[in-house]
Amino acid sequence: MFTITFANPKGGSGKTTSAMLLAEQIRAAGATVAILDCDPNQNIVQWGAQRAEKGKAVPFNIRPAPNEATFLDTVDAIRGTADYLIIDLEGTANQLVTYAISQSDLVLIPFEPTPMEARQAARAVQLVRNAGRMMSRSVAHALMFVKVNAAIQTNDEKDVRKETEANDIPVLRSAIVRRAAYTRIFRDGFLLGELLEQARDEVKGSTASAQERVLKPLDAAMQNARDYTQEVVNLLSQEKAAA
Ligand SMILES: Nc1ncnc2c1ncn2[C@@H]1O[C@H](COP(=O)(O)OP(=O)(O)O)[C@@H](O)[C@H]1O
Ligand SMILES: [Mg+2]
Repeated sequence: MFTITFANPKGGSGKTTSAMLLAEQIRAAGATVAILDCDPNQNIVQWGAQRAEKGKAVPFNIRPAPNEATFLDTVDAIRGTADYLIIDLEGTANQLVTYAISQSDLVLIPFEPTPMEARQAARAVQLVRNAGRMMSRSVAHALMFVKVNAAIQTNDEKDVRKETEANDIPVLRSAIVRRAAYTRIFRDGFLLGELLEQARDEVKGSTASAQERVLKPLDAAMQNARDYTQEVVNLLSQEKAAA
């Protein structure tokens, strides 16, 4: 089982959204996914509950936040039942974060690339590195840029990328664009693929330009999620080969 943790002490940095996009695309590629929702807000648990209420299949094994005492037992219990475990952390630095890092093959730190957010993300990197030192092993980690502009690379984004390179902090090549579809999946317990299918049905019979206006951003959202997932899966298999 590969374990991927989303960490960043800053709330609203994009952890839960990025975790869900990854989960859906890994599942779509045929692997099984368990998710540990460690945020007291329980966004992912609620997403699953919404689906269950509507009689829709819940494609992941979603587990609510275990407490510190039961965290490691919960991870052990999941081991062997899923190909991937995705841990979505809450936006604070606590003991659970250290436990989660200790169980991870990869820690991803999403943030919007602005100087202020970059400072918080750097703190998350330090946390991962310190946890690694405590365990006498290095834990693979990478920053990821999220909520970026689809059309242009801002100067902030360029500056932050340069700075991370100068400081030897790995950053995923794929950035996640700011897209309305990524917010909508949480509104009614949707998968991105379902939003796309629904939109395709709705635009049947309308003009080509109207179809394009609706479908283009959704197709782009889907492609972005796929590219990012591919990069993460590749990273994990490279790491495994190197181990
Ligand atoms: N790529 C994205 N495009 C559009 N909105 C996003 C994106 N990533 C996150 N958001 C929005 O930003 C807010 C915080 O995101 P969330 O994933 O809940 O962060 P966290 O889990 O770190 O608190 C939410 O309103 C979410 O819909
Ligand atoms: Mg969250």
